[in-house]
Parts: sequence; structure tokens; C-alpha cells
Amino acid sequence: MQKLAIQGGKPLRGEVRISGAKNAALPIMCASLLTAETLRLTNLPELHDVGTMRKLLQQMGVVAEAATGEITFKGDKIDNWEAPYDMVKTMRAAILVLGPLVARFGDAKVSLPGGCAIGSRPVDLHIKGLQAMGAEIAIEHGYIHAKAKRLKGARIFFDIVSVTGTENLMMAAALADGVTTLENAAREPEVVDLANCLRAMGAKISGDGTDTVTVTGVDKLHGATHHIMPDRIESGTFLVAAAATGGSITLRETRADILETVLEKLTEAGAKIKVAGDTIHLEMSGRPKAVNVRTAPHPAFPTDMQAQFMALNCIAEGSAMVVETIFENRFMHVQELRRLGAMIDVEGNTSVVKGVDHLEGATVMATDLRASACLVIAGLVAQGETVIDRIYHLDRGYEHIESKLSQLGANIRRMK
Ligand code: EPZ
Repeated sequence: MQKLAIQGGKPLRGEVRISGAKNAALPIMCASLLTAETLRLTNLPELHDVGTMRKLLQQMGVVAEAATGEITFKGDKIDNWEAPYDMVKTMRAAILVLGPLVARFGDAKVSLPGGCAIGSRPVDLHIKGLQAMGAEIAIEHGYIHAKAKRLKGARIFFDIVSVTGTENLMMAAALADGVTTLENAAREPEVVDLANCLRAMGAKISGDGTDTVTVTGVDKLHGATHHIMPDRIESGTFLVAAAATGGSITLRETRADILETVLEKLTEAGAKIKVAGDTIHLEMSGRPKAVNVRTAPHPAFPTDMQAQFMALNCIAEGSAMVVETIFENRFMHVQELRRLGAMIDVEGNTSVVKGVDHLEGATVMATDLRASACLVIAGLVAQGETVIDRIYHLDRGYEHIESKLSQLGANIRRMK
């Protein structure tokens, strides 16, 4: 297992380029299943999950030629409509092949993803939506078997806002016969990025980014080239790290319009933020002020930034409430933060964080992707050395994080 060793106490200073968004790249890569023509994706982040998704598509017969930061897909020789358990269990986003496979081939066998550290993560809404579109679905031996002569447009209402549920059904609807409306749909920017790519492929989609998405199915989709949007969570993570260490950084190739609630919270914590084109500059002098956060679907505060703000609140002035409303078990980072000296009480889905004037370095363990980012931030501010174990979680969602942080002056190294 690889580890990260961090000597804390140095303010982050300098510039960092933001990578393409993992949570846009993963669904958009699955869109390659919807056409026999060439789909070229640029600004892809070099992440473990992107590599896993590429392998999953290749074992189905998709040709996927990779160059730096881009992959060209060609799905004209797909002969295997299965996503096996051993690939799905390591990356839940593999469920996103289900909709495209049923829509284009009328047949799919996708392993149920199983749970993960942050929650049970069911996919019942994905299945219910496909059934509404006429798919016959059987769950046998841990696999979802879906069949359909041709999917039909339907009105689908999501009981719970689901990002990949919205994305899976938007892709399925793109080739269905008739009109599909997705109501109570997810409004995340990554849903809009997928819709932009599908429209470039000839799909007829409107309302993406609102809670009602309308898709008019077409018979075929053609190839396209699509530039993946910047990663708003990577952006937010670096900004919180700069705020926590009292630094001054500039993010390049990012977007501020998809991070509004995060920027507001950082301003409330005392950071000075300037936005210009595709750059965001953050300056933090002195100790941050504690800020309350409550996660909810976009455009509210993102659950994927909850752990990072918990780290900021650990060393902030005052106390703050952190409320997690999306996942049932997304406080795994709390007990690790306590090892560094944080004062946190947890009651159900609410954590109360009492700011302390410093954390002390210790050995901690990453439990999931964003929890590991939180521990990196805590390590950057703690006195002495922090060693973070199981950092494979981190590599799933942050491209070259230690080199980017080193460029910003952090004293961080990867250990075998
Ligand atoms: C996406 O996961 C993201 N992953 C997650 O990012 C993110 O935390 C999450 O959306 C919420 O924003 C990708 O986009 C690849 P959901 P997803 O379906 O789609 C319940 C990261 O760190 N639900 O929006 O799996 C579910 O249990 C990852 O990058 C059902 O009950 O999340 C949860 O409580 C972590 N039934 C809530 O809805 C379903 O069929 C929201 O889940 C689907 C979801």
C-alpha cells in the first residue's frame, strides 16, 4: 500500500492547472457505446477510475486509443454486453454502461455495484427508469440483466435526486422511440457536460441543468469531439487547502460559475477570492472563521466538498455544524481527524466541529476518495509529519495530487 508523508505548516502559494472532471469523464466515456462512429474526448484526467472505465469499455469491444489527456473511442465492433463484478466492484460508475447498452443493443448484463464506504449506494432508480422505458429487468446472481426490443420514451420521476441515475437514463432515452421526460432530475454541471456531448453526437436534449430534462429519441447517434469540463471538486479542494494553510493560490483552466456555493463559503471563512476568465485566485491571511455547511443536490453545497470543509473547520476560529444529507455514512474522516487532535462531535448526520488552534501530525488512514482529500488538507496544516495510508482512494479522483501540491510549496512525498 502506498502512503503520503506530509510535513505541515507551510502556506500554499503559486499556480495550479485544474484537470478535467472525473464525474463528467466517466459518464461521457460510456456515451461511446451509443454510436459506431468515432468519439474523441479531450482534457481527460489521468486517473485510476478513467483507466478502469477504459478497460471496461475495451473488454466490451470498444477500441479506445489513448494519447496524453485524450482518448479516441470507436464502438463499431462491440460484441460483449457485460460489465463483470470484478470491474464494477472497484468503480461504481460502471453502472453507467447499463443505459447505453440497453438503448443501442437491447441487451445488457451489469453487475450490481454493491455498497461502498460512504453508503449502500443502491441503483433502484436506474432500474425503475429503464423498466418505465419498457426494459425487461431480472436481478440474478448479483447481476442486472436488462433486455428490450427498443426502449420507448416515458415520463420518469426520481423519488431521490440521482446524478448517475439522471445520466444513465438520459443516455438510454437518446436512442429510445419517442420522448422521455426526467423529472426531479439532477442539476449537476457534469449532467450538463454529458448533455452537451450527446447533443454534439446528434441527440435531442433540453432542460439539462434544471430539474426537468426532456429527451426526444433518435434512431442513430454519430461521432463527435468533446472537451471535458474542469473538475469543480478538485478546484474546491485546492481552494480549501490554500484557505486552511493561510496561503495564496491561483487555479487555471477552471470555472467559477459551477462552484458558487463553495466560493461563498470560502468568502464567509475570510478568504479573498478574485475570478477572472478561467482562473480563480484565493488569498487567505490569518486564521479562517468556522463555517456551517449543509450538503444537498446542486446548486446547493456539494457533498463531495463536505469532508474538505470539515478539515478547514478543525483549525478555524469558532464552532461549525456540518450536515450531510446525501449519504448515510460520509463521516468516516471524523475519527481520523480526531487522531490529529480535532474536536468533533457526531450526532446522526450532523457533526459539530470546534476549532482548535493547531493539529498535531499523526498516522491516519484514508477510507474513501474525498475523506483522503480531507486528510491531505489536515496534514498540510498539522504541526509535524502526517502519514496517510491507503492513498489508492486519492489516486481515483485527483490527478498527480502530490506533484501539484509540491508545485504550491507543500512538503509532501509518496512512500511505498
Ligand atoms: C455521484 O454519485 C458522484 N459520482 C458522487 O461522487 C457524488 O458524491 C454523488 O453523485 C452526489 O453528488 C459520479 O458522478 C461518478 P447519487 P451517484 O445517485 O450518482 C441515493 C466522488 O467523490 N440513490 O446522486 O452514485 C444514493 O444512495 C463521488 O466523486 C438511491 O437511493 O450518487 C444517495 O443517497 C462519490 N437510488 C443519493 O441517492 C438510486 O438508484 C444520491 O446518490 C440512486 C441513488
